[in-house]
Amino acid sequence: KKGMALLLTVPMVFALSGCNLANNGKRIIRISHSQSEAHPDHVGLLAFEEYVESKLGDKYDVQIFPNELLGSSVKAIELVQTGAIDFAIASTSNLETFDDIYQIFTMPYLFNSVEAYHAVMENEELISGIFSSTAESGFEAVAWFEAGTRNFYATSPIKTVEDLKGKKIRVQQSPANVRMMELFGAAATPMSFGEVYTAIQSGVINGAENNELALTNNKHGEICKYYTYNQHQMVPDLLIGNLRFLEGLSPEERQIFDEAAKIATQVEREEWDEQVAVAKEQATEMGVQFFETDIEPFREKVLPLHQELLAANPKLQPIYDHIQAINNQVQEAK
Ligand code: GCU
Repeated sequence: KKGMALLLTVPMVFALSGCNLANNGKRIIRISHSQSEAHPDHVGLLAFEEYVESKLGDKYDVQIFPNELLGSSVKAIELVQTGAIDFAIASTSNLETFDDIYQIFTMPYLFNSVEAYHAVMENEELISGIFSSTAESGFEAVAWFEAGTRNFYATSPIKTVEDLKGKKIRVQQSPANVRMMELFGAAATPMSFGEVYTAIQSGVINGAENNELALTNNKHGEICKYYTYNQHQMVPDLLIGNLRFLEGLSPEERQIFDEAAKIATQVEREEWDEQVAVAKEQATEMGVQFFETDIEPFREKVLPLHQELLAANPKLQPIYDHIQAINNQVQEAK
C-alpha cells in the first residue's frame, strides 16, 4: 500500500496543481492527512466538509485524502505551501522545520495539565500569533485538533527512564524531538508516521511514542505490548491552509471557512475523548499492558531542553512566559 502511495504521489501532484476545477465547474478543495478514515482528525474534517458544502456547495467541492495518500505529513505541508493542495493536517512537530516557533510545543512537560494545555490552545490572542507565523512560507494554521498526550511504547517494557537506555525510539521529523530523545538517553530515529509500523516489526526501532490511538488506529499495539504513561508531550495537530487560497476568499466566504474550522475542532475533540476510551479497551484486548510510572525522573532528564531552546530561539520566550502564566492560573483555579 505504501509503495502504491509513493508511486502515485509524483504524477498525482502534477495532476493536482493544474486541476482544481471539477467537470461541474466547482472548485475542488483538497485536504490531506495521515490518519485512517476512522480517526478523530478525519471525523473533524468531515464536519468541515459538510459545513462548507452546506453553505457554499454550489461553488466548492471539498475532498479529503486520508492515510498519507498524497504523501507523508512533511510532504503534505509542502504541497499546501506551493498551493498544489489547499489544506493539510500536520503535527506541530512537523511544522517546526517550516517555522521554528513551533518548537514551543515540542518542549517536553511544557503544560502542567491537560486543562492548562486546552486553556492555551483556546487562548485566541496567543494562538493566533502562532498560527499566522508561517505566512511568509505561504500557509497558515486555521484550526487545532486534539492529539492527546504522548507516551512511550515498545516491544519490551519501559517502566523507568533508565529502561530507555540503548533503545532505538522513533521520533517525529524535528530536531527538537531528536534532542529530547537524546536527553532521555535513547537513540532517536526520525521517520514519518506511516513508516513506524514496519520499522518496529522489522526491528529497525524498538518502539515509539504517541497517544493511545497509535496502538489501535495505526495497529502499533499488534507489535508493541508495553505502553507507559510518562506523559512527555501534548502536541496538537493543526489544520493548515494555503495562504493564497485563504486570501482569495471573499470576507463572507472566509467567515464560513473559519466557522467550519471551529466546528471541525469541536467535533474532533468530542470524537477524541470517546475514541481514546475505546482504544484503551481494544489495546488491552490486543494484549497491550498499560503502566503508570513516576513521571518526575523522566521530567528531570529533559527539562534542560526548555532553556536550550529558549536560548537558541529568543522568539519563544514571550510565548513560553505566557504559557507559564496560564499553567499557574489553571493550577490556582483547581
Ligand atoms: C499523531 C498525530 C499525527 C502525527 C503522528 C506522528 O498521530 O496525530 O499528526 O503525524 O502522531 O507521530 O507522526
